[in-house]
Amino acid sequence: MIKDIEKILVSEDQINELCDRIAKQIENDYRDSKKLVLICILKGSLPFTAELMKRISLPIELEFMKVSSYGASTVSSGVINLHLDLQRDDLSDADFIVVEDIVDSGRTLSYLIRYLSERGAKSVRTCTLLDKPERRTVNFTPDYCGQIIDDYFVVGFGLDYNEKYRNLPYVGILKPEVYGG
Ligand code: PRP
Repeated sequence: MIKDIEKILVSEDQINELCDRIAKQIENDYRDSKKLVLICILKGSLPFTAELMKRISLPIELEFMKVSSYGASTVSSGVINLHLDLQRDDLSDADFIVVEDIVDSGRTLSYLIRYLSERGAKSVRTCTLLDKPERRTVNFTPDYCGQIIDDYFVVGFGLDYNEKYRNLPYVGILKPEVYGG
């Protein structure tokens, strides 16, 4: 896998630092919350959610959702499909933080905020490891953001290309010849 990486964009050390920072922010903001639920958006957000949650020294609950906006391509299809829903009915007693690996067009998180709000969530905020504001097609800003990046094709630490590279411990820029760019 390493031979396919042009450059490391966010190293393991940098990932650890930004997880520390976001966890502190969340702790401060949710100190008085009665019930805090992190929602890990499969598949890409799994490593980030795992690193983040162990640094938050508040009681938290964990949920998983799976949505997709991309097929096996580098361009957003613009369609959001809900593949796995929350395993709870009443959302009115909990504060939710939706955790993502990357925000691109902004459609996925805009959709999830709307969806959870319509289902009666007490509050909904969003948290992303990476943000590519240049790619936005809807008006959306995450509440917590690890790092803003330029419009590179990035993989690793959860991010894939055709399901590969998710297990790299850092975020790297993929060589264009790998995806035919
Ligand atoms: C990626 C990423 C976000 C979404 C961001 O997921 O994990 O969920 O796309 O794009 P947007 O801001 O344009 O909506 P993907 O559908 O590739 O699924 P995966 O996490 O399983 O790889």
